[in-house]
Amino acid sequence: MTNKSKQKIIIDTDPGIDDAMAIHMAFADPRLDVVGLTTIFGNVNVDEATRNALYLAEQAHYKLDVARGAEVPLVQVPNTPSYHVHGDDGFGDLPAQSPKQAPHALDAADYIIQTCRAHSGEISLCPVGPLTNIAIALQRDPDLVNHVKSVVIMGGAGFVPGNVSDYAEANIWNDPHAADIVFAAEWEVVMIGLDVTTQVMITPPEYKSIADASGPIGKFIYDISAFYTRFYATIYHDDVCVLHDPCAVIALTDPHLFEYRKMPVHVICDGPAIGQTVPDASLPRHAAKIAIGVDVDAVKAHYLDLSKMADDKTADRQKAV
Ligand code: BDR
Ligand code: CA
Repeated sequence: MTNKSKQKIIIDTDPGIDDAMAIHMAFADPRLDVVGLTTIFGNVNVDEATRNALYLAEQAHYKLDVARGAEVPLVQVPNTPSYHVHGDDGFGDLPAQSPKQAPHALDAADYIIQTCRAHSGEISLCPVGPLTNIAIALQRDPDLVNHVKSVVIMGGAGFVPGNVSDYAEANIWNDPHAADIVFAAEWEVVMIGLDVTTQVMITPPEYKSIADASGPIGKFIYDISAFYTRFYATIYHDDVCVLHDPCAVIALTDPHLFEYRKMPVHVICDGPAIGQTVPDASLPRHAAKIAIGVDVDAVKAHYLDLSKMADDKTADRQKAV
């Protein structure tokens, strides 16, 4: 596949264990051209997210831009990063790494605007963290909606309870005002939320199969999964990892693996339900596509197959230099 026929995406991310899994999977997918990673606070702070994103790109010898994003939410006081879910440095038990590359000169919002305008109609945005960078980009350039191909987010809970409160999913809860701006914009948001991601669980033997089938990246994925599994064991009383962020990337490449309901969404920005994503057919807003069903076996197989290819694809890129 030539770079021209690949689908161009920018992943906006707070790596983060499942972010790292999504990014390595995207790097391995021959149908994708990951143009850039833009970073955001959430699982870790934005400097840690930027360092981790640069490291993931270096690990995979993937040439792309990494643009540092917002440090804090638009309005609310920042929540504490989710170190208890993703580890002190974002990659579980693994220590922080020091990448050699520096971030892009533009901040994430300007990078998104400039890159989407330069490739008008060709780039899909795949935010898998709080939506602050995307909201800032929309505030700076409302016409951005006409230059982006599609927006597929990991975030929200349409018809199921939240994961940080009874109402809210973590990415939306970390910046509800930003999320509401993104849902209010004149574009179609595909919402890959807890309704579907919590159905897709990977077990330790399945992660081990990635490590056994491949080299250092496969081993890295297996290693970082251990911390995440320990966290989810406290919730599900079983050894499983919930595959949140990879689901959003898969929804972008393979939308037919999900079932959707089209409805406008607004986000609660204060009170006990802060961060709740509320589907409301009566809202005078562009309808979002809310994923409500998923072909669990197909999504898992897709994730595992691509992750097992991560090291081979990296070797191919090294040879090509
Ligand atoms: C989301 O929150 C973060 O912990 C994960 O990376 C994912 O993007 C799940 O609620
Ligand atoms: Ca994330």
